[in-house]
Amino acid sequence: MGRAVASAPGKTILFGEHFVVAGEPAIAVAVGLRARVEAVLTGGREIEVESRNLGLRASFTVGGDGGGPLYPVAVAAAEALREAGIEGGVRVVVDSEIPPAAGMGSSAAVAVATVAAVAAAGGVELEPGRVSELAYRAEEVVHGKPSGIDNTVSALGGAVLYRKGVGARSLEADFSPVSIVLADTGRPRNTGEMVRRVLELRDAFPEVLGHVYRAAGALVERAAVHLERGEFEALGRLMNVNHGLLSAVGVSTVEIEELVYRAREAGALGAKLTGAGGGGFIVALAWRESAGKVAEALREVSGRVYVAPVEAVGVRVEERDI
Ligand code: PMV
Repeated sequence: MGRAVASAPGKTILFGEHFVVAGEPAIAVAVGLRARVEAVLTGGREIEVESRNLGLRASFTVGGDGGGPLYPVAVAAAEALREAGIEGGVRVVVDSEIPPAAGMGSSAAVAVATVAAVAAAGGVELEPGRVSELAYRAEEVVHGKPSGIDNTVSALGGAVLYRKGVGARSLEADFSPVSIVLADTGRPRNTGEMVRRVLELRDAFPEVLGHVYRAAGALVERAAVHLERGEFEALGRLMNVNHGLLSAVGVSTVEIEELVYRAREAGALGAKLTGAGGGGFIVALAWRESAGKVAEALREVSGRVYVAPVEAVGVRVEERDI
């Protein structure tokens, strides 16, 4: 029976969250924290899923319905079984370094790694773009109607310019001079609720908010140019402006502002909330040699701080015995 291990990175949104929902572009980068998935074909009728991180196991019937936290993994596995023409079931074991429910794309990275591992166990190596499409179906189970940015950047790695309904383009950049610093406010966030609130504000004041959305779109286009030229100071300044636009649409909080200002005062090139807001994480961009100092300043008030490089490698099959 075939066996394979695949891994995929988490992500952070550097520019354009929320505005992306209404068709403006966004930029996300893969971060160097990965989800690993082992898939073993069983020939049985079930998809068995185990999560080492959650300490949970569950079984699902191939092609059947389900629920619970592990069901999206089973959906991703089922998509890969079908795509690779594999008869029978699979056992999937998930082991992830990406903090869950933190806006770091952990569910998407798990789905992406699952699709790649299951297909590889059946002897089929899928293109990253196809892995992303199949993983999106699992993301729909978790998030309803996500923009698709998480699975895209996890599968492709590096930096991605994304526009809903149009697709993604990889941005060529050498990120080696900088690090990403992520810090948790400790307050859980609800992406669906925050998205609804922002859209409601836009509907209430369309002639005002239209300008904010267009400013965000222009900002992202400009950021893509600086990113590809490796102009990280300009990128940091635009992150700060982007944070202002997110505050304007009401998704910042006192805790977020504290972290953002601490990061900037400790020498970050730029800092902003990342993802849905209302809680969750902030992201700071720092020269590699200053990242430790930024992280230290954030640790004084945040229980979870991560320093990670931008990860160039997207989904990757690590091991295969077939
Ligand atoms: O907090 P996250 O990573 O789930 O990001 C949400 C990003 C939004 O733009 C607010 C929504 C979306 O689907 O893109």
